[in-house]
Amino acid sequence: MTILLLGSGGREHALAWKMLQSSLCTKLFVAPGNAGTETIATNFDLNILDFEAIKKTVLQERIEMVVVGPEDPLVHGIYDFFKNDSELNHIPVIGPSQKGAQLEGSKEFAKEFLVRHAIPTAAYDSFTKETVEKGCQFLETLQPPYVLKADGLAAGKGVLIIQDLEEAKTELRNMLVHSKFGTASAKVVIEEFLDGIELSCFVLTDGKNYKILPTAKDYKRIGEGDTGLNTGGMGAVSPVPFADKILLDKIENRIVKPTIDGLQKDGIEYKGFVFIGLINVKGEPIVIEYNVRMGDPETEVVMPRIKSDLVELFQAVADEKLNEVTLEIDERSATTIMVVSGGYPEEYEKGKVISGIENIEDSIVFHAGTKMENGQIVSNGGRVLAVTSYGDNFKEAIKKSYQNIDKLHFDKMYFRKDIGNDLK
Ligand code: AMP
Ligand code: GLY
Repeated sequence: MTILLLGSGGREHALAWKMLQSSLCTKLFVAPGNAGTETIATNFDLNILDFEAIKKTVLQERIEMVVVGPEDPLVHGIYDFFKNDSELNHIPVIGPSQKGAQLEGSKEFAKEFLVRHAIPTAAYDSFTKETVEKGCQFLETLQPPYVLKADGLAAGKGVLIIQDLEEAKTELRNMLVHSKFGTASAKVVIEEFLDGIELSCFVLTDGKNYKILPTAKDYKRIGEGDTGLNTGGMGAVSPVPFADKILLDKIENRIVKPTIDGLQKDGIEYKGFVFIGLINVKGEPIVIEYNVRMGDPETEVVMPRIKSDLVELFQAVADEKLNEVTLEIDERSATTIMVVSGGYPEEYEKGKVISGIENIEDSIVFHAGTKMENGQIVSNGGRVLAVTSYGDNFKEAIKKSYQNIDKLHFDKMYFRKDIGNDLK
């Protein structure tokens, strides 16, 4: 089967790496891809929001399946574009319909879905420019810190957590009245702050059946000890050591099952990944967000722990027969450490020559922001490489990743040295 994978990050390199282990995948294209995907597949320089250009390539290259990495094409309706086109509608797209993608594309839609299907989530209300004063009054009824969420996609920056009431009111006005996050903050969800440890649950669904993939936890802040600005993720661990059977059963029964049933009840077509962001509040899992894709860097630890054939799983998703295949998980731990450009998540330089990848032993280097330039691998983004290792436990795996990172070099390279230190 000829497959096209859309995206260009560490997540896509890990998905490509896993799909290529399948005998069902005879040719893999990645658009636009990075230097890592270029070494194992064929990169295409395509704008992933230009559906007509994607159509042309799909027909030209006789692509038989499209796998969507990031949320943007999904929120823009790539699934429906294929479904409604007579030349494309026989080609499965792994990813939800545009309606389903609203679970990530609109925080308000997600909250209404959670409440409608009685899935545990933080108490909330949502406000617009017209109701900004009501929003301020609502803030007065809550305890600090205050959680303000831009309704739409805001490149991971749309959530503010603020200690001070007056500052929270000012930021609410900035978001609603002064378009702090553009149209994404035309609506704002204000929600109760949940105090607990975060973890993520990944689900693959065909819309009726589901498989729960390995759990993972990422490290969002740039600085050690979880300080500084939020990033896309500086490292990840799978499985999550504190996610015991009791917690996992609660997650499945109270959250995963009602989510998939809810999609069905609401008539929402969904053939893809659901990434459920959870906070464990004293042993009770509560949903803080849905994403309609895999996480990055979580994919770089989840994929290595899946033993089953990923393309076979995707085919079963397309055929709505996910109940007929088994999902086998590697018992070992997998961890990844992100190596980033100095300055990220603020300004940073690109084009730095990366050396030492060839010396890595016993770890997998997934490329995130890299490209090939004159035969050399150079940095091309904030997050540059994800160094993934296996171990009998997460400590052993993390040690291996750090030993290997010592062999890597590029100008102003940075990584957190405390990944996993918070875990027992
Ligand atoms: P989100 O984009 O919804 O994942 O939010 C970004 C981050 O904000 C999450 O990863 C959490 O760390 C934090 N967060 C979101 N909602 C809440 C909440 N209700 N209580 C505490 N922290 C939250
Ligand atoms: N690592 C978090 C995300 O992919 O959204």
